[in-house]
Amino acid sequence: MSWDGIIRAYHEFLPVTETMPIITLQEGNTPLLAIPNFVTAIGGDLELYVKYEGLNPTGSFKDRGMTMAVSKAVEAGSKAVMCASTGNTSASAAAYAARAGLRCIVLLPEGAIALGKLAQALMQGAEVIAIRGNFDDALRCVRALTEQYPITLVNSLNPYRLEGQKTAAFEIVDALGDAPDYLSIPVGNAGNITAYWQGFQEYQASNLSSKLPKLLGFQAAGAAPIVENRVFEHPETIATAIRIGNPASWQKAVRARDESGGLIDKVSDQDILQAYRLLAQTEGIFCEPASAASLAGISKLIDAEYFPPGAQVVAVLTGHGLKDPDQAMAVSEAPLVLNADLEEIAAVVMALR
Ligand code: F0G
Repeated sequence: MSWDGIIRAYHEFLPVTETMPIITLQEGNTPLLAIPNFVTAIGGDLELYVKYEGLNPTGSFKDRGMTMAVSKAVEAGSKAVMCASTGNTSASAAAYAARAGLRCIVLLPEGAIALGKLAQALMQGAEVIAIRGNFDDALRCVRALTEQYPITLVNSLNPYRLEGQKTAAFEIVDALGDAPDYLSIPVGNAGNITAYWQGFQEYQASNLSSKLPKLLGFQAAGAAPIVENRVFEHPETIATAIRIGNPASWQKAVRARDESGGLIDKVSDQDILQAYRLLAQTEGIFCEPASAASLAGISKLIDAEYFPPGAQVVAVLTGHGLKDPDQAMAVSEAPLVLNADLEEIAAVVMALR
């Protein structure tokens, strides 16, 4: 079957009109992969899958929301879009704006964006402004500017973003035949956990699933406003995608957590990096550090004997590992450098095993 993006695939669940152009890069339809080697390595009794959202066109889940937000912006006659971003939203906005012929202006926290994401925004023609401040400062500016000027805000405060992002929940149910017992997801600005909850609820209301999952959200310990119920003025974590101290969808995420009977907890940078490496080394799946928070969280809950035996769990891998090559290099050993000499190479290779 041919695939032409989430809007065409799920139009009956989306606010699609006759006049709306569909700006798509064929996002969605991402793999749901079982990861039994990882489960063995962390010592759990789970049926664990990852939803590999890093395989979207710009390498993150943001594309699901951006196809809707940019299509709607064009329908409304907008000529420019704007966002604040820890990187992925800007990469996605730049791509869809380029395809639609719109101006794209992005505000990024200076020095806190992973290299791959910045490269994408620049290559795809966004007008990139680095702000002396963090993501929360940048979002405050973008909210004010898009109220004052004829520019469409494409952060997840734009309701069309969440509409598009909820389709990932549909795909999970379509693949499993029902909702899983648990859905584990990293939480930053808290839009995505909100979107998943919306998606699972809508599918159940349409009798396409029999149950709802419990939502398990994970923030980085240095940027855990929802967990600690306080704004973090100076959020800090190696998982720069979720380095957010005052999430825009805070209350919606709390509601999703409580309605689902799940939890939102925090994981240390060390545990995030451990899950990040372990996933790549046991399963050949390379995600960015923020995405590994969902697996670090599962590992923490296994240690706390939270799950019933054999529980079916889906962890969302929100972004691709190639987004942040610096972090990958930082946790890896540099390659050996040898002469092009058979004996020298053989001596080393045979000594390694
Ligand atoms: N994972 C990745 C890779 C992200 O880029 C983000 C958010 C999240 C998780 C958290 O999702 O904000 O919906 O709770 N990135 C935004 C950005 C903030 O600007 O790219 P959330």
